[in-house]
Amino acid sequence: MNYIGSKLSLLEFLEESINKVVDKNCNIFCDLFAGTGSVGSFFKKKGYKIIANDIQYYSYVLNKHYIENHKELTFSKLIKKIPELKNIDLENRKDYVCNYLSNLKGKKGFIYKNYCVGGTKNKKELRQYFSDENGMRCDAIRQEIELWNNKELILPDEYYFLLTSLLESIDKYANTASVYGAFLKKLKKIAQNSLILKPANLIINKQEHQVFNEDIKDVLEKSSGDILYLDPPYNQRQYATNYHLLETIAKYDNPKIYGKTGLREYQSQKSVYCSRSEVKKSFKDLILKARTRYIFLSYNNEGLLTPEDIKEIMSLRGKYSYFTKEYNRFKADSDKNRDHKAKKTIEYLHYVVCE
Ligand SMILES: C[S@@+](CC[C@H](N)C(=O)[O-])C[C@H]1O[C@@H](n2cnc3c(N)ncnc32)[C@H](O)[C@@H]1O
Repeated sequence: MNYIGSKLSLLEFLEESINKVVDKNCNIFCDLFAGTGSVGSFFKKKGYKIIANDIQYYSYVLNKHYIENHKELTFSKLIKKIPELKNIDLENRKDYVCNYLSNLKGKKGFIYKNYCVGGTKNKKELRQYFSDENGMRCDAIRQEIELWNNKELILPDEYYFLLTSLLESIDKYANTASVYGAFLKKLKKIAQNSLILKPANLIINKQEHQVFNEDIKDVLEKSSGDILYLDPPYNQRQYATNYHLLETIAKYDNPKIYGKTGLREYQSQKSVYCSRSEVKKSFKDLILKARTRYIFLSYNNEGLLTPEDIKEIMSLRGKYSYFTKEYNRFKADSDKNRDHKAKKTIEYLHYVVCE
């Protein structure tokens, strides 16, 4: 997923830097602003036990699958509904079930009625986040997953796998420049293609992992481990508004929505890390409360906290230093109108070895 602040292209830099600091006895890696789960997934593959957390529910879903799921999914109860599954090899069942869902007839549900032209053309606000066809496909798939879950035809690990597959897939057909803060007036080419549910990647390994859906300040106490990795928002862009549609597809809770973009209420998910007046104090509280041996923080040179703020605060816990890497700024689909000279930023990995 093309996610603001994703660390997908910085994983090697993170690993190389972290390995230069930590000793060999580190087993537990806490990724408490987990977003897409890219960092946790990477370190899960390296053998760490991962504790992941994010305040957004769609992120919780992604991490429940990418991080917590670690055994093959059998879909054995779903055989009642799809008898052919019995003859499919275990490792091919995920594809089979996704294919089954991709072929459902579309339904005029919440997404179609509120975020597609067909469903909104007679309403106060016309919206075009998805083609009518994909809105209906999304509704049909989402409703079927919920029905299977309610009827206990799938287990929780299968439920999160299917929801993750839907979130990852539908995001590829969204009629946006990149985030859900606005939609495009004309249906872009890729948004015109029919939604196909692609099975999300499953990382199999032996460790048990844990995932939370809380404000980080409430999860720190449950997350004592070796390495605390922090990747908070860098600026004022709230994730709750930029990804509100993923939140609604994940929760599918018929929320009250408002305005041009059909935003859901998000007061409880407003991040203090996006607030110039609150970020420094909140960051200090966080660093003082952390219970791990090492703390790492990803941040760039354009964020709300200055490198001096960060040094001052992290030094309160022990020996502080940092690594840097030049990095391309987050890009929307088209960067034609952007100032190319300003595209590069410096990505920092600050750290402290706690005393
Ligand atoms: C920079 S992104 C993380 C990106 C992630 N490392 C990745 O590669 O996808 C920051 C994340 O912090 C989450 N977040 C913001 N404030 C939070 C808070 N107070 N508690 C927990 N998560 C929070 C956001 O929802 C967002 O997913």
